[in-house]
Amino acid sequence: MQSKAIKKAKELLENEKLVAIPTETVYGLAGNAYSTTAVKKIYELKGRPSNNPLIVHIKSRAYLDEVAQNIPEQAYRLAEKFWPGPLTLVLEKQDRVPDIVSAHKNTVGVRVPNHPLTLSLLEALDFPLVAPSANTSNHISPTCKAHVQASFGEKSPYVLDGGPCESGLESTILGFKGSEILLYRHGVLSKELLSAFLGQKIVEHTHAAVPESPGMFLKHYAPHTPLYFYDDKAFKAAQEQNLRIGFLNFRATNPYINPENQRILSPLGSLEEAAKNLYRFLYELDALGLDLIFAEQLPSHGIGRAIHDKLYRASQK
Ligand code: TXA
Ligand code: MG
Repeated sequence: MQSKAIKKAKELLENEKLVAIPTETVYGLAGNAYSTTAVKKIYELKGRPSNNPLIVHIKSRAYLDEVAQNIPEQAYRLAEKFWPGPLTLVLEKQDRVPDIVSAHKNTVGVRVPNHPLTLSLLEALDFPLVAPSANTSNHISPTCKAHVQASFGEKSPYVLDGGPCESGLESTILGFKGSEILLYRHGVLSKELLSAFLGQKIVEHTHAAVPESPGMFLKHYAPHTPLYFYDDKAFKAAQEQNLRIGFLNFRATNPYINPENQRILSPLGSLEEAAKNLYRFLYELDALGLDLIFAEQLPSHGIGRAIHDKLYRASQK
């Protein structure tokens, strides 16, 4: 039995309209991957540059060959182990995937998202969904319905409400070049974990001069309030100027700052919890209209690497 919400989402998508969908990572702005009309609407609503390709979300591994071809053996192994889940594989594209989806590249990013509502929705549809994060271009990715609505205002599409996202950070993106495996974007699944699973080195390709994955563009995922990594000197200078300072800390509060302007990512020091809270706290701090936000540097292992990467990009001016 399909719920009313899924029926509504299905109807909209079948009519080439957009729907914001929940995933385990962040909310996606979804449209029919085979409809150029729907895909155009996504680029327009996000204000996304047309050279930044979209991820195709499929209902199961069995569907992979519909959208990709000449798939390397390691990709099948990864899909079997991690799908549904926060891993996007960049593979050679099938012709039926419109060029607008892949920004005219011959590759396509594919994943099976892990959220029960979105999996039921995909099951009910006879086409896959493209879904970039459901935020305006370069802004913070949404991890709940309210973020999507805040990002798009009155232009907000219908949101299939699946509650807060479980992981709260984007999927990890891998690509294949000859026998090499490339990491295009840090995400929920760490490079160490994926590399250990494959028994193979993964080559970081995230800061390449030629952005094969525009997630590589440095300035990205930013709040409107300027964000800096914490350092004593800058903090003292900001205090002397009586600036209104926000804090994004890992475990401990800062005794010199109004508690209302602080967010603690994980009092117990869990990087997974920190990832889940990251975008929500950035939204909340941004809404306070502060002069600047100082973010603490987190341990850079496991999912901490992806958190660091997002904060680093948010700090680029
Ligand atoms: O967790 C996620 O992946 C979320 C949820 C909604 O699934 N989606 C997401 O989409 O983060 P988006 O559009 O915000 O980021 C997609 C990233 C971009 O950096 C894009 O450049 C890269 O994937 N990408 C997509 N197709 C690619 C391709 N063919 N080659 C290289 N990079 C690609
Ligand atoms: Mg995004």
